[in-house]
Amino acid sequence: MRLTLKIWRQDDAKAAGGLESHEVDEVDPGMTVLDVLDKVNAGLRGRGAREIAFSQQCRKGSCGLCALVINGDPHGPTPGKAACQVQMRAFDNGSTLVIEPWRAGPFPPVRDLIVDRGALGRVLEAGRVPSTAASAAAASAGFCIECGACVAACKNASASLFVGAKLAEHASRPEPRRRVLSMVARMDAEGFGSCSDDGACEAACPKGVSVGAIAALNRAFLSAALLGPEP
Ligand code: SF4
Ligand code: FES
Repeated sequence: MRLTLKIWRQDDAKAAGGLESHEVDEVDPGMTVLDVLDKVNAGLRGRGAREIAFSQQCRKGSCGLCALVINGDPHGPTPGKAACQVQMRAFDNGSTLVIEPWRAGPFPPVRDLIVDRGALGRVLEAGRVPSTAASAAAASAGFCIECGACVAACKNASASLFVGAKLAEHASRPEPRRRVLSMVARMDAEGFGSCSDDGACEAACPKGVSVGAIAALNRAFLSAALLGPEP
């Protein structure tokens, strides 16, 4: 296959960014988008140019680090797959792939395709909810891998699906009212918006977390707001 990649390049948080075009030949349909970025980077390295910065670790859909928007879709066009699992067979020969970072106010840019998703960790910390990304459990359907695609997909940059998923995973932990109040307060303080109610988060989630998690979050929050935190 031959593909054209238009890749977001940005030297640092303050620099103006823009799309850089790369023609890539001899792409195997089984290659993932990260494999193709590796191929582009090998060419850049060979020419002594700066390589494209992107986040990745597991390359099997469990760490949540590969935060890429492909042709406008967080994690790309393959439902239920993280960007690292999206194979080039999902595209026609001769296609153009526009690859950009998550774009959401609470995720400031760092460099090229990397954004700072520390706000998600601080929301977890506020609820004393341990991170499960990269664990065996997180690899299963329904377990949140803390990628932030739901935030990137939401026009309000809401983290409601993420918080709902984490609260559901840790429902048996003590002081549920205190935890939900604290996480929602932190979510607001970090600049995440309110739920836009359009389901874009569920469609973007690579783990199939359902918007039912948001309904459960809203019920838990209302109840906690009425009763107050546990004494
Ligand atoms: S709910 Fe889904 S999209 Fe949102 S952070 Fe978790 S795994 Fe990613
Ligand atoms: S690199 Fe780990 S989920 Fe994609």
